[in-house]
Amino acid sequence: TDKQNFTIGILTLSDKGARGERVDESGPLLAEMCTGLGEVIRTAIIPDEQERIVEVLIDWADNLRLDLVLTTGGTGLSPRDVTPEATLQVVDRLVPGMAEAMRLESLKKTPHAMLSRGVVGMRGETLIVNLPGSPKAARENFAVLLPALSHALGKLK
Ligand code: MTE
Repeated sequence: TDKQNFTIGILTLSDKGARGERVDESGPLLAEMCTGLGEVIRTAIIPDEQERIVEVLIDWADNLRLDLVLTTGGTGLSPRDVTPEATLQVVDRLVPGMAEAMRLESLKKTPHAMLSRGVVGMRGETLIVNLPGSPKAARENFAVLLPALSHALGKLK
């Protein structure tokens, strides 16, 4: 059976959230959904700035050596949405099927699903997953991956 005690980080990308102008609902919601998969040992809310996102992803992967990092927000088409670019900058290998599966399932719920540019990839032994920002979208997308996640994470080392 697959192991379930993975270390997890949740990174919320939101200009408003980082300024304290919006309460982050998606981060806590994702943390709740991780019960049973492992322990959320890091959370952070930072603005949609590619260099800052890169810094956190590298720190969490290389220093904290987390098994899983979930990002929420910044995957859309607005000029400030740079989470996929930051993620592509730090991953060694992509896992296209996980991103494809999220979009495929999400398209059954809303045509807006095609607007998420989120990617999934590995940096060393850390899996990085981009989820959209709204609580509804984050929940629906993460729910698609959950059934395969402990198996996926078990393969990373
Ligand atoms: N996926 C699901 N399952 N459900 C949703 O409601 N919203 C979409 C999309 N993916 C949505 C979804 C919308 S409206 C956008 S703009 C994109 O995700 C990108 O969201 P982000 O910019 O907050 O990352």
